[in-house]
Amino acid sequence: SKPRVVVVGSCMIDLVSYAPRLPRAGETLTGRKFQQGFGGKGANQCVAAARLGAETALIARLGDDSFGHEYLKALNKEGVQTGYVSITKEMHTGMAQIVVAECGENQIVIVPGANRNLCVEDVQLAKETIEAAKVLLFQLETPVEATLAALKLAKGKGKRIVNAAPAVLKDTALFTESDIFCINETEAEELLKIPVKSIEDGYKAAEKFRDLGCSAIVITLGSQGAILSTQEDPTPYHIPVKKVQPVDTTGAGDAFLGAMAYYMAYHPQLSLKEIVHRACSVATISVQSPGTQSSFPYRNELPDALL
Ligand code: RIB
Ligand code: NA
Repeated sequence: SKPRVVVVGSCMIDLVSYAPRLPRAGETLTGRKFQQGFGGKGANQCVAAARLGAETALIARLGDDSFGHEYLKALNKEGVQTGYVSITKEMHTGMAQIVVAECGENQIVIVPGANRNLCVEDVQLAKETIEAAKVLLFQLETPVEATLAALKLAKGKGKRIVNAAPAVLKDTALFTESDIFCINETEAEELLKIPVKSIEDGYKAAEKFRDLGCSAIVITLGSQGAILSTQEDPTPYHIPVKKVQPVDTTGAGDAFLGAMAYYMAYHPQLSLKEIVHRACSVATISVQSPGTQSSFPYRNELPDALL
């Protein structure tokens, strides 16, 4: 059937080393565990939505290496529609070197590889799928030209969620061309050049993003929950989350975004506050196990209140 959630974004292979702490420059640390996983913010968000029960499609590029071919199989297994996921000749699949410290902090270096080849033409091929989507998700790990082309196609059709991660904003049109702009605390600091540590800071940041032209803004604050402000309801609103002991927070933002897309596409009657609240709960589940996609919950593991 028609995918209600469509993601234009990245695929990466995550090589995750678990170490006592993050290394300093020039330092060699001995880690205690290694895990390889399927990652990349685009695919992560797509898989998160698919596991909750969403019919999804991904528009992405993989490399012509064993990682790329394995990744395609994995996406198909998750039930993601992969008609617009292509293998790029003579390119390597995107790679993410990740270190996770015992305290839960992480450090990531990505090498986009084939993700760099995602282009306007790829988006045009998927025109009908993009125009028919209820919710669309975008991040900043793939070329901005393709993102802008898809945002334009979907304008006035599906709800367009732009996740400004990582915080390298190549075009300010992303503020005004999204229906919901979503960012975490460190990315917000990076873009606004103001501290975003407390809930109060989050309120201020939300106002700044609205001044920049975002019609709705969601700022996630890790264990402190999220801040929401919209055109209809501009006073920034804080949504708290249950405190847990995190094992690995990598990909928690992606679990959050995939969940938001699922709820918006399948429970459009819910308020945005309730959607953000539920998405926070899904992200909280993900931080309690290691890895990115490997930690995202399946529908049958969720309490009724989160379906
Ligand atoms: O958001 C987490 C993701 O960022 C990881 O899966 C890694 O691939 C990087 O893209
Ligand atoms: Na996790």
